[in-house]
Amino acid sequence: MDYFLLLMFVPANFCPGQTFPTPNAFTFPKTVLGQFASSVEQCPSNTPNAGIPQASALCNIITRTFEPPNQVKCNLTLDSINADVPGANLNDKKVLASSTQILTSIPERLTSQNITNAVKITHFLLSNQQTTDQNDIVVSAVATVSQLLSTREEIFSSVSRSAVSLLTQTLQKISLSENSSPLLVQPNIAMQSLKGQTAIRHVQLTYFKGQSDNFLPDRIKLQTTQTEIFKDVIDLQMNIAFNQDFNKDIGFVLYDNDRFFQSNSFQPTLDTKRRVISASLPEITELDQIKFTFTESADSTMSLNDFACVFWSYSKNDWSPDGCFKTTGPSGQAECRCLPKTVKTNFAILMSFNINYQYSEALSWISIIGCALSVVGLSVTSVYQIITRKSRGTNPTLLVVNVCISMMVFYLLFIFGINNPVKHLTVAKSTQNIVPASDYHTYPDQGPCTVFTALLQFFLLATFTWNTLYGFNVFLLFKNQVSGTPTWFPKVALPVGWGLPAVIVGISLGSTYSVKEPLGYRQEEFCWLAALDHNLNFSMGKPMFWGLVLPLLLMLISNAAILLHFSHNICKTNPNLGRSRKTPLKNKILSSFSLAVMLGLSWSIGYILLIVRDSYLQFLLTVVFCVLNTTQGVQILILFTLRPVLKAHPAILAALRPSAISLHRRTFYLWKNKTPDSHESYISTVQSSV
Ligand SMILES: *[C@@H]1O[C@H](CO)[C@@H](O)[C@H](O)[C@H]1NC(C)=O
Ligand SMILES: *[C@@H]1O[C@H](CO)[C@@H](O)[C@H](O)[C@H]1NC(C)=O
Repeated sequence: MDYFLLLMFVPANFCPGQTFPTPNAFTFPKTVLGQFASSVEQCPSNTPNAGIPQASALCNIITRTFEPPNQVKCNLTLDSINADVPGANLNDKKVLASSTQILTSIPERLTSQNITNAVKITHFLLSNQQTTDQNDIVVSAVATVSQLLSTREEIFSSVSRSAVSLLTQTLQKISLSENSSPLLVQPNIAMQSLKGQTAIRHVQLTYFKGQSDNFLPDRIKLQTTQTEIFKDVIDLQMNIAFNQDFNKDIGFVLYDNDRFFQSNSFQPTLDTKRRVISASLPEITELDQIKFTFTESADSTMSLNDFACVFWSYSKNDWSPDGCFKTTGPSGQAECRCLPKTVKTNFAILMSFNINYQYSEALSWISIIGCALSVVGLSVTSVYQIITRKSRGTNPTLLVVNVCISMMVFYLLFIFGINNPVKHLTVAKSTQNIVPASDYHTYPDQGPCTVFTALLQFFLLATFTWNTLYGFNVFLLFKNQVSGTPTWFPKVALPVGWGLPAVIVGISLGSTYSVKEPLGYRQEEFCWLAALDHNLNFSMGKPMFWGLVLPLLLMLISNAAILLHFSHNICKTNPNLGRSRKTPLKNKILSSFSLAVMLGLSWSIGYILLIVRDSYLQFLLTVVFCVLNTTQGVQILILFTLRPVLKAHPAILAALRPSAISLHRRTFYLWKNKTPDSHESYISTVQSSV
């Protein structure tokens, strides 16, 4: 009962929505204590600031209601404020400070020029404090800074670094100034100071974890004793120890991210967040040591690879690791210890992460058997085709043998080379404190994985290219039924069949591969082309798409076009052909097309297999993949070996006919009809045996 009553009277930590009476008839939504609300009313569309809120109001922490609104002129620009602010009196400054806050309240709209202006304005407003009656200005300026910290990283890289550097130094001073309140919290920046202390030996600042990503006042705790707090509830913590009694003021500034600290040596590429803590420590002689820790900010697909303990060097305009040491906390988290000699302020931990690779066996015994059967079928076919080449035209031999060889090599490579033999599983963090190049750690290329990937890409492309050439050959045969395939065809086929795949592989390697970063070209878990971006989405910019899927798709389409063209022409010249028993060339066309479809289908599934994580689905797909693959080898065996063999020895056929083949609904009789003056042609009979 008491507890229930207590709950009822706990005041809410926000200001309820409110509409002010005229002349300031603005409406503000519900807002967190201590923060600015933007008015629902916006600047009209015919003004330079169209779409920007017309007013803002601060939600007062004590009264829990909005303070009177500040309005902005809809034709005011940050440029003109920047020009006006040095000559402004105190009242004008207040208006300019709140105008700057309103003009920067939609961070997505800010250009780097806007940000540079706003940085200069806030620096000026904060550094020129003559009177003590300026808390309004400080609050508006700090709110502006917080808004600037939520602009996009890319835009920030072209903001004036010298202006930002002046601003961070001013913010540090402000945290100590007598005008500012001891605790000032905005979503992306928090200031906390310890004033009027006598004889302390220790200061501990802790920022606790919470639901929201933004800074909130009740999650910051400052104390003068060192208390052990559960590490899992800490977002960041700093401990400062003094070697003699310390009685001066200390100010802290917490930055939610490192936008204001644009480094040349550390170039983040992931969307990780680095908080920065600034501690204003006037006397170095009394300092013993500074310890701090930050939690990791990457998601669960990544793990910490290494880190560096750094402070911002204003002389180098970059992070510096000098004078800091890496330690490991009790629960294994990254911790830092810095000695006061060289170290100034603005501390951070630069972390680099690597992906938690999920190595698994790509091949089950089913797919190995499937591939092995195919290899047998393909080698038998190749040998047969070569042995009997004299009795048939040379072109089909060349094409079929090349399809078989490239496919066979592909299967062999696939069985033996798809799994990466070099696995990066455990990470040994170095003890040296060196600034990493990026927040994304990549391993330099090791082992034969890239070679296997390139060969797999080459032979799969070659299989499809030769298959397309086969289709094209059939097309030419059909077009020139009397004269046969033109003599130039084999001369063109060889360089195209092996050259086109080589060119595509060369382009893929050349544009995406480097020894330092092999994963632009291939995957880590499997020796196969890279397909996904950082967010694990299929990316059209990756070689998997344009170096394999796209060419294969084009070849499949051209094969389909040949088939369509062919069947269209047959139907036009002989409408009864569908029912006819004699279909010259039809089998060749069909075999070419069905080969292409099988290839396309089975390798799309083969690809899905590599990314599917669900074990049941994976098993199912493996079975389908295996069946398709086995069928492929067997299909080729039937089309190019068994069929001619049966034709040559009709006795075998006769023996098989009643028993085996009539089990099927349909029986195919195939034989070759060779006339002295023409190329070979196939005639098939389709008979229903039911
Ligand atoms: C903005 O408009 C007001 C009139 O509404 C005008 O007095 C003022 O000069 C204009 N300022 C700028 C910077 O154009
Ligand atoms: C922001 O910058 C753009 C050009 O860079 C300018 O047109 C615009 O007026 C600026 N916005 C403000 C509010 O100053």
